[in-house]
Amino acid sequence: MTETLITADLPESPSKGEFRDVMGRFASGVTVITTHLDGEDYGAAASAVSSLSDEPPSLLICLNVTSTTAQAIVKSGTFAVNVLAEDSAPIAQRFASKAPGKFETVAFERGHAGVPLVSGCIAHFECVVDETVRGGTHLVFLARVVRVSSTPGSPLAYFRGSFGRMETAPDAAALHAVRDFVVGAVSDVSVPLDAEGIAAALEIEVGRTYQALVALTAEGLVRRTGATFEVEPVPDQVIFDYYAAKLAIEIGAAAQTVGSTDTEQLAELRRLLDATLEFTVDEEFSDPEGWIRANAAFHEYLVGLAGSVILTETYKGLRLPALEQRSIRHSTRATHLLHDDHRAIVKGYETGDVELVLRTLGAHARRPQETRAEESQARESALHGGAAV
Ligand SMILES: Cc1cc2nc3c(=O)[nH]c(=O)nc-3n(C[C@H](O)[C@H](O)[C@H](O)COP(=O)(O)O)c2cc1C
Repeated sequence: MTETLITADLPESPSKGEFRDVMGRFASGVTVITTHLDGEDYGAAASAVSSLSDEPPSLLICLNVTSTTAQAIVKSGTFAVNVLAEDSAPIAQRFASKAPGKFETVAFERGHAGVPLVSGCIAHFECVVDETVRGGTHLVFLARVVRVSSTPGSPLAYFRGSFGRMETAPDAAALHAVRDFVVGAVSDVSVPLDAEGIAAALEIEVGRTYQALVALTAEGLVRRTGATFEVEPVPDQVIFDYYAAKLAIEIGAAAQTVGSTDTEQLAELRRLLDATLEFTVDEEFSDPEGWIRANAAFHEYLVGLAGSVILTETYKGLRLPALEQRSIRHSTRATHLLHDDHRAIVKGYETGDVELVLRTLGAHARRPQETRAEESQARESALHGGAAV
Protein backbone atom coordinates (compact mmCIF):
# COMPACT_ATOMS: atom_id res chain seq x y z
CA MET A 1 0.00 0.00 0.00
CA THR A 2 1.50 3.33 -1.05
CA GLU A 3 0.17 6.73 -0.07
CA THR A 4 1.46 10.04 -1.31
CA LEU A 5 1.58 12.82 1.26
CA ILE A 6 1.06 16.37 0.01
CA THR A 7 3.66 17.89 2.32
CA ALA A 8 2.88 21.46 1.27
CA ASP A 9 -0.48 21.18 3.08
CA LEU A 10 1.01 19.93 6.31
CA PRO A 11 1.29 22.23 9.31
CA GLU A 12 4.79 22.91 10.63
CA SER A 13 6.17 20.01 12.69
CA PRO A 14 6.57 20.46 16.44
CA SER A 15 10.11 20.98 17.70
CA LYS A 16 12.02 17.99 19.06
CA GLY A 17 11.55 19.28 22.62
CA GLU A 18 7.82 19.85 22.18
CA PHE A 19 7.37 16.42 20.61
CA ARG A 20 9.28 14.70 23.44
CA ASP A 21 7.34 16.60 26.06
CA VAL A 22 3.95 15.70 24.58
CA MET A 23 5.02 12.12 23.81
CA GLY A 24 6.11 11.78 27.44
CA ARG A 25 2.45 11.96 28.40
CA PHE A 26 1.96 8.56 26.83
CA ALA A 27 2.57 6.38 29.90
CA SER A 28 4.38 3.13 29.30
CA GLY A 29 6.00 0.19 30.97
CA VAL A 30 9.79 -0.13 30.98
CA THR A 31 11.81 -2.95 29.50
CA VAL A 32 15.44 -3.86 29.08
CA ILE A 33 16.26 -5.09 25.60
CA THR A 34 19.13 -7.57 25.78
CA THR A 35 21.18 -9.43 23.24
CA HIS A 36 24.35 -11.54 23.08
CA LEU A 37 27.01 -11.28 20.38
CA ASP A 38 30.49 -12.79 20.14
CA GLY A 39 30.66 -13.55 23.86
CA GLU A 40 29.48 -10.04 24.90
CA ASP A 41 26.19 -9.06 26.53
CA TYR A 42 24.34 -5.89 25.53
CA GLY A 43 21.34 -4.20 27.09
CA ALA A 44 19.36 -0.96 26.82
CA ALA A 45 16.36 0.37 28.72
CA ALA A 46 13.49 0.82 26.28
CA SER A 47 9.88 1.84 26.38
CA ALA A 48 9.32 1.78 22.61
CA VAL A 49 7.98 -1.76 22.56
CA SER A 50 4.73 -2.81 20.98
CA SER A 51 2.79 -5.94 20.24
CA LEU A 52 2.66 -6.40 16.46
CA SER A 53 0.66 -9.50 15.57
CA ASP A 54 -0.46 -12.64 17.33
CA GLU A 55 -0.24 -14.93 14.27
CA PRO A 56 2.64 -15.47 14.26
CA PRO A 57 3.32 -13.92 17.70
CA SER A 58 5.38 -10.85 16.88
CA LEU A 59 6.39 -7.60 18.47
CA LEU A 60 8.44 -4.58 17.52
CA ILE A 61 10.99 -2.49 19.33
CA CYS A 62 12.55 0.85 18.37
CA LEU A 63 16.15 1.58 19.26
CA ASN A 64 18.26 4.57 18.37
CA VAL A 65 20.82 3.78 15.67
CA THR A 66 23.52 4.96 18.09
CA SER A 67 22.54 2.32 20.65
CA THR A 68 25.25 -0.31 20.98
CA THR A 69 22.50 -2.80 21.80
CA ALA A 70 20.75 -1.96 18.50
CA GLN A 71 23.98 -2.40 16.58
CA ALA A 72 24.57 -5.78 18.28
CA ILE A 73 20.99 -6.89 17.46
CA VAL A 74 21.58 -6.03 13.79
CA LYS A 75 24.37 -8.63 13.85
CA SER A 76 22.97 -11.21 16.31
CA GLY A 77 19.44 -11.20 14.90
CA THR A 78 18.05 -12.08 18.34
CA PHE A 79 17.02 -10.20 21.45
CA ALA A 80 14.93 -10.49 24.58
CA VAL A 81 12.42 -8.02 25.97
CA ASN A 82 12.68 -8.03 29.78
CA VAL A 83 9.62 -6.33 31.31
CA LEU A 84 10.75 -4.67 34.55
CA ALA A 85 8.90 -5.01 37.86
CA GLU A 86 7.88 -1.92 39.84
CA ASP A 87 10.88 -2.06 42.18
CA SER A 88 13.38 -2.14 39.29
CA ALA A 89 13.93 1.55 38.57
CA PRO A 90 17.65 1.15 39.48
CA ILE A 91 17.96 -1.56 36.80
CA ALA A 92 16.25 0.71 34.26
CA GLN A 93 18.65 3.52 35.14
CA ARG A 94 21.62 1.23 34.83
CA PHE A 95 20.56 0.12 31.34
CA ALA A 96 19.68 3.66 30.30
CA SER A 97 23.36 4.52 30.46
CA LYS A 98 26.26 3.72 28.19
CA ALA A 99 28.49 2.76 31.12
CA PRO A 100 30.46 -0.44 30.64
CA GLY A 101 29.74 -3.52 32.78
CA LYS A 102 25.97 -3.00 32.89
CA PHE A 103 25.41 -6.69 33.68
CA GLU A 104 27.96 -6.86 36.49
CA THR A 105 25.54 -6.35 39.38
CA VAL A 106 22.42 -7.63 37.65
CA ALA A 107 21.28 -11.24 38.08
CA PHE A 108 20.27 -13.00 34.86
CA GLU A 109 19.90 -16.36 33.19
CA ARG A 110 20.56 -17.20 29.57
CA GLY A 111 17.83 -17.86 27.06
CA HIS A 112 17.79 -18.72 23.37
CA ALA A 113 21.16 -18.02 21.67
CA GLY A 114 22.67 -17.02 25.03
CA VAL A 115 20.61 -13.82 25.28
CA PRO A 116 20.49 -12.57 28.92
CA LEU A 117 17.11 -12.82 30.66
CA VAL A 118 17.17 -10.36 33.56
CA SER A 119 15.98 -11.91 36.85
CA GLY A 120 13.07 -10.41 38.79
CA CYS A 121 11.21 -9.28 35.66
CA ILE A 122 7.47 -9.84 35.36
CA ALA A 123 7.77 -11.04 31.74
CA HIS A 124 10.32 -12.12 29.17
CA PHE A 125 9.87 -12.29 25.39
CA GLU A 126 12.63 -14.06 23.48
CA CYS A 127 12.65 -12.89 19.89
CA VAL A 128 14.23 -13.48 16.49
CA VAL A 129 14.41 -10.50 14.12
CA ASP A 130 12.24 -10.84 10.98
CA GLU A 131 12.77 -7.40 9.52
CA THR A 132 14.65 -4.21 10.33
CA VAL A 133 13.32 -0.84 9.19
CA ARG A 134 14.96 2.57 9.57
CA GLY A 135 12.62 5.29 10.90
CA GLY A 136 14.29 8.68 11.41
CA THR A 137 16.87 8.30 14.18
CA HIS A 138 15.74 4.80 15.11
CA LEU A 139 15.86 1.22 13.93
CA VAL A 140 12.59 -0.66 14.18
CA PHE A 141 13.08 -4.37 14.75
CA LEU A 142 10.05 -6.44 13.77
CA ALA A 143 10.55 -9.77 15.44
CA ARG A 144 9.02 -13.20 15.90
CA VAL A 145 8.49 -14.17 19.53
CA VAL A 146 9.93 -17.66 20.07
CA ARG A 147 9.48 -18.05 23.83
CA VAL A 148 7.64 -16.22 26.60
CA SER A 149 7.55 -16.46 30.38
CA SER A 150 5.88 -14.43 33.11
CA THR A 151 5.66 -14.17 36.89
CA PRO A 152 3.09 -12.34 39.04
CA GLY A 153 3.94 -8.78 39.94
CA SER A 154 3.30 -5.17 39.00
CA PRO A 155 5.17 -3.35 36.25
CA LEU A 156 7.50 -0.39 36.51
CA ALA A 157 5.82 2.59 34.85
CA TYR A 158 7.32 5.57 33.04
CA PHE A 159 5.52 8.88 32.63
CA ARG A 160 6.87 12.33 31.74
CA GLY A 161 10.45 11.36 32.53
CA SER A 162 9.72 9.75 35.89
CA PHE A 163 9.47 6.17 37.04
CA GLY A 164 6.42 5.16 39.02
CA ARG A 165 3.86 2.51 39.76
CA MET A 166 1.00 1.47 37.59
CA GLU A 167 -2.23 1.44 39.46
CA THR A 168 -5.58 -0.11 38.55
CA ALA A 169 -8.72 1.76 39.59
CA PRO A 170 -9.51 -0.67 42.47
CA ASP A 171 -5.89 -0.42 43.65
CA ALA A 172 -6.13 3.38 43.56
CA ALA A 173 -9.40 3.33 45.52
CA ALA A 174 -7.84 1.00 48.11
CA LEU A 175 -4.76 3.20 48.41
CA HIS A 176 -6.93 6.27 48.85
CA ALA A 177 -9.02 4.61 51.57
CA VAL A 178 -6.02 3.15 53.42
CA ARG A 179 -4.15 6.47 53.22
CA ASP A 180 -7.16 8.26 54.70
CA PHE A 181 -7.32 5.64 57.41
CA VAL A 182 -3.64 5.97 58.27
CA VAL A 183 -3.60 9.75 58.15
CA GLY A 184 -6.92 10.39 59.79
CA ALA A 185 -7.61 7.57 62.22
CA VAL A 186 -4.20 7.08 63.71
CA SER A 187 -2.37 9.40 66.07
CA ASP A 188 1.23 10.45 65.63
CA VAL A 189 2.76 7.76 67.86
CA SER A 190 4.02 4.47 66.44
CA VAL A 191 0.97 2.25 66.21
CA PRO A 192 1.19 -1.23 64.66
CA LEU A 193 -1.17 -1.43 61.72
CA ASP A 194 -3.09 -4.63 61.25
CA ALA A 195 -3.59 -5.15 57.51
CA GLU A 196 -6.40 -7.66 58.02
CA GLY A 197 -8.18 -5.43 60.51
CA ILE A 198 -7.94 -2.44 58.18
CA ALA A 199 -9.14 -4.57 55.25
CA ALA A 200 -12.18 -5.69 57.26
CA ALA A 201 -12.91 -2.17 58.50
CA LEU A 202 -12.68 -0.66 55.02
CA GLU A 203 -14.19 -3.67 53.21
CA ILE A 204 -11.19 -4.02 50.91
CA GLU A 205 -9.39 -7.24 49.92
CA VAL A 206 -6.49 -8.03 52.27
CA GLY A 207 -4.06 -8.27 49.31
CA ARG A 208 -4.98 -4.78 48.12
CA THR A 209 -4.74 -3.40 51.65
CA TYR A 210 -1.30 -4.93 52.01
CA GLN A 211 -0.26 -3.47 48.63
CA ALA A 212 -1.57 -0.05 49.72
CA LEU A 213 0.46 -0.22 52.95
CA VAL A 214 3.57 -1.03 50.90
CA ALA A 215 2.84 2.01 48.71
CA LEU A 216 2.39 4.18 51.82
CA THR A 217 5.79 2.96 53.01
CA ALA A 218 7.27 4.44 49.84
CA GLU A 219 5.40 7.69 50.59
CA GLY A 220 6.96 7.77 54.07
CA LEU A 221 3.63 7.55 55.86
CA VAL A 222 4.18 4.12 57.35
CA ARG A 223 7.23 2.10 58.31
CA ARG A 224 7.61 -1.59 57.66
CA THR A 225 9.37 -3.90 60.12
CA GLY A 226 9.25 -7.48 58.85
CA ALA A 227 5.60 -8.30 58.33
CA THR A 228 4.25 -5.45 60.45
CA PHE A 229 3.54 -1.91 59.44
CA GLU A 230 3.66 1.03 61.81
CA VAL A 231 2.65 4.63 61.45
CA GLU A 232 5.72 6.71 60.82
CA PRO A 233 5.67 9.55 63.34
CA VAL A 234 6.79 12.87 61.95
CA PRO A 235 7.48 15.50 64.61
CA ASP A 236 6.50 19.06 63.71
CA GLN A 237 10.13 20.15 63.94
CA VAL A 238 11.05 17.67 61.20
CA ILE A 239 8.31 19.05 58.99
CA PHE A 240 9.54 22.59 59.60
CA ASP A 241 13.09 21.55 58.74
CA TYR A 242 11.80 20.18 55.46
CA TYR A 243 10.08 23.50 54.78
CA ALA A 244 13.36 25.28 55.47
CA ALA A 245 15.07 23.06 52.87
CA LYS A 246 12.19 23.66 50.45
CA LEU A 247 12.58 27.41 50.93
CA ALA A 248 16.32 27.28 50.25
CA ILE A 249 15.73 25.48 46.95
CA GLU A 250 12.87 27.76 45.93
CA ILE A 251 14.86 30.90 46.72
CA GLY A 252 17.74 29.61 44.60
CA ALA A 253 15.42 28.75 41.73
CA ALA A 254 13.53 32.06 41.96
CA ALA A 255 16.73 34.12 42.08
CA GLN A 256 17.75 32.49 38.82
CA THR A 257 14.44 32.64 37.01
CA VAL A 258 12.37 35.69 38.01
CA GLY A 259 12.58 38.11 35.10
CA SER A 260 13.58 35.50 32.55
CA THR A 261 10.43 33.43 32.23
CA ASP A 262 8.60 33.48 28.90
CA THR A 263 4.89 34.07 28.38
CA GLU A 264 4.11 30.35 28.10
CA GLN A 265 5.80 29.65 31.41
CA LEU A 266 3.97 32.52 33.07
CA ALA A 267 0.66 31.26 31.67
CA GLU A 268 1.40 27.78 33.05
CA LEU A 269 2.32 29.29 36.43
CA ARG A 270 -0.98 31.16 36.53
CA ARG A 271 -2.87 28.03 35.50
CA LEU A 272 -1.22 26.06 38.32
CA LEU A 273 -1.99 28.89 40.74
CA ASP A 274 -5.67 28.84 39.71
CA ALA A 275 -5.71 25.07 40.16
CA THR A 276 -4.82 25.49 43.86
CA LEU A 277 -7.79 27.75 44.58
CA GLU A 278 -10.61 25.23 44.58
CA PHE A 279 -9.52 23.11 47.53
CA THR A 280 -10.26 25.45 50.41
CA VAL A 281 -13.59 26.73 51.66
CA ASP A 282 -14.01 29.16 54.55
CA GLU A 283 -10.39 28.80 55.61
CA GLU A 284 -10.60 24.99 55.75
CA PHE A 285 -9.23 22.40 53.38
CA SER A 286 -12.31 21.02 51.62
CA ASP A 287 -10.14 18.47 49.81
CA PRO A 288 -6.76 18.13 51.58
CA GLU A 289 -5.40 15.65 49.03
CA GLY A 290 -6.42 17.85 46.11
CA TRP A 291 -4.74 20.82 47.76
CA ILE A 292 -1.55 18.89 48.46
CA ARG A 293 -1.38 17.74 44.84
CA ALA A 294 -2.15 21.14 43.30
CA ASN A 295 0.15 22.97 45.71
CA ALA A 296 2.99 20.53 44.98
CA ALA A 297 2.47 20.98 41.22
CA PHE A 298 2.66 24.77 41.60
CA HIS A 299 5.82 24.73 43.70
CA GLU A 300 7.52 22.01 41.64
CA TYR A 301 6.89 24.05 38.52
CA LEU A 302 8.59 27.08 40.11
CA VAL A 303 11.64 24.99 40.90
CA GLY A 304 11.51 23.32 37.47
CA LEU A 305 11.78 26.74 35.80
CA ALA A 306 15.47 26.72 36.79
CA GLY A 307 15.89 23.91 34.27
CA SER A 308 18.06 21.77 36.54
CA VAL A 309 17.09 18.11 36.76
CA ILE A 310 19.24 17.68 39.86
CA LEU A 311 17.56 20.59 41.63
CA THR A 312 14.10 19.33 40.70
CA GLU A 313 14.91 15.76 41.81
CA THR A 314 16.36 17.06 45.10
CA TYR A 315 13.21 19.06 45.62
CA LYS A 316 10.97 16.10 44.87
CA GLY A 317 13.18 13.99 47.15
CA LEU A 318 11.98 16.10 50.09
CA ARG A 319 8.68 14.23 49.63
CA LEU A 320 6.71 17.20 50.91
CA PRO A 321 3.36 15.85 49.70
CA ALA A 322 3.86 12.74 51.89
CA LEU A 323 4.71 14.89 54.89
CA GLU A 324 1.73 17.09 54.23
CA GLN A 325 -0.51 14.02 54.15
CA ARG A 326 0.42 13.65 57.83
CA SER A 327 -0.15 17.24 58.77
CA ILE A 328 -2.98 18.61 56.61
CA ARG A 329 -6.49 17.39 57.37
CA HIS A 330 -9.99 18.70 56.69
CA SER A 331 -9.87 20.41 60.07
CA THR A 332 -6.48 22.06 59.44
CA ARG A 333 -6.83 25.80 59.08
CA ALA A 334 -6.32 26.88 55.49
CA THR A 335 -5.38 30.48 56.01
CA HIS A 336 -6.27 32.72 53.09
CA LEU A 337 -2.65 33.88 53.28
CA LEU A 338 -1.64 30.70 51.42
CA HIS A 339 -3.57 31.87 48.37
CA ASP A 340 -2.42 35.47 48.83
CA ASP A 341 1.19 34.23 48.88
CA HIS A 342 0.72 32.20 45.70
CA ARG A 343 -0.84 35.22 43.97
CA ALA A 344 2.01 37.47 45.09
CA ILE A 345 4.59 34.96 43.89
CA VAL A 346 2.98 34.77 40.45
CA LYS A 347 2.67 38.54 40.33
CA GLY A 348 6.37 38.82 41.16
CA TYR A 349 7.21 36.44 38.33
CA GLU A 350 4.95 38.35 35.94
CA THR A 351 6.44 41.72 36.80
CA GLY A 352 10.02 40.50 37.23
CA ASP A 353 9.95 41.65 40.87
CA VAL A 354 12.48 39.28 42.41
CA GLU A 355 12.33 41.01 45.82
CA LEU A 356 8.59 40.38 46.05
CA VAL A 357 9.00 36.72 45.12
CA LEU A 358 11.83 36.08 47.59
CA ARG A 359 10.05 37.90 50.42
CA THR A 360 6.81 36.05 49.78
CA LEU A 361 8.49 32.66 49.51
CA GLY A 362 10.01 33.29 52.95
CA ALA A 363 6.67 34.26 54.48
CA HIS A 364 4.96 31.36 52.73
CA ALA A 365 7.39 28.81 54.16
CA ARG A 366 6.58 30.04 57.68
CA ARG A 367 2.79 29.56 57.30
CA PRO A 368 2.70 25.93 58.54
CA GLN A 369 4.60 26.96 61.67
CA GLU A 370 2.24 29.89 62.25
CA THR A 371 -0.81 27.70 61.69
CA ARG A 372 0.52 25.11 64.17
CA ALA A 373 1.13 27.84 66.76
CA GLU A 374 -2.39 29.20 66.24
CA GLU A 375 -3.87 25.71 66.53
CA SER A 376 -2.08 24.94 69.78
CA GLN A 377 -3.05 28.36 71.14
CA ALA A 378 -6.67 27.60 70.27
CA ARG A 379 -6.39 24.21 72.03
CA GLU A 380 -4.92 25.91 75.10
CA SER A 381 -7.76 28.42 75.16
CA ALA A 382 -10.32 25.63 74.82
CA LEU A 383 -8.68 23.75 77.72
CA HIS A 384 -8.87 26.84 79.87
CA GLY A 385 -12.55 27.36 79.20
CA GLY A 386 -11.98 29.85 76.45
CA ALA A 387 -10.02 32.21 78.67
CA ALA A 388 -7.31 34.01 76.81
CA VAL A 389 -3.86 33.00 78.05
C1 LIG B 1 12.54 4.72 30.58
C2 LIG B 1 13.47 4.74 29.40
C3 LIG B 1 13.04 4.32 28.18
C4 LIG B 1 13.90 4.32 27.08
N1 LIG B 1 13.41 3.90 25.89
C5 LIG B 1 14.22 3.86 24.83
C6 LIG B 1 13.74 3.34 23.60
O1 LIG B 1 12.60 2.90 23.49
N2 LIG B 1 14.60 3.35 22.54
C7 LIG B 1 15.89 3.82 22.64
O2 LIG B 1 16.62 3.81 21.64
N3 LIG B 1 16.36 4.30 23.81
C8 LIG B 1 15.58 4.31 24.90
N4 LIG B 1 16.05 4.76 26.09
C9 LIG B 1 17.44 5.24 26.16
C10 LIG B 1 18.46 4.08 26.18
O3 LIG B 1 18.21 3.21 27.26
C11 LIG B 1 19.87 4.66 26.31
O4 LIG B 1 20.15 5.44 25.19
C12 LIG B 1 20.96 3.65 26.54
O5 LIG B 1 22.12 4.35 26.92
C13 LIG B 1 21.30 2.82 25.33
O6 LIG B 1 22.38 1.97 25.71
P1 LIG B 1 23.30 1.25 24.64
O7 LIG B 1 23.89 2.30 23.74
O8 LIG B 1 24.32 0.53 25.48
O9 LIG B 1 22.42 0.30 23.88
C14 LIG B 1 15.22 4.77 27.21
C15 LIG B 1 15.67 5.21 28.45
C16 LIG B 1 14.81 5.19 29.54
C17 LIG B 1 15.28 5.66 30.88
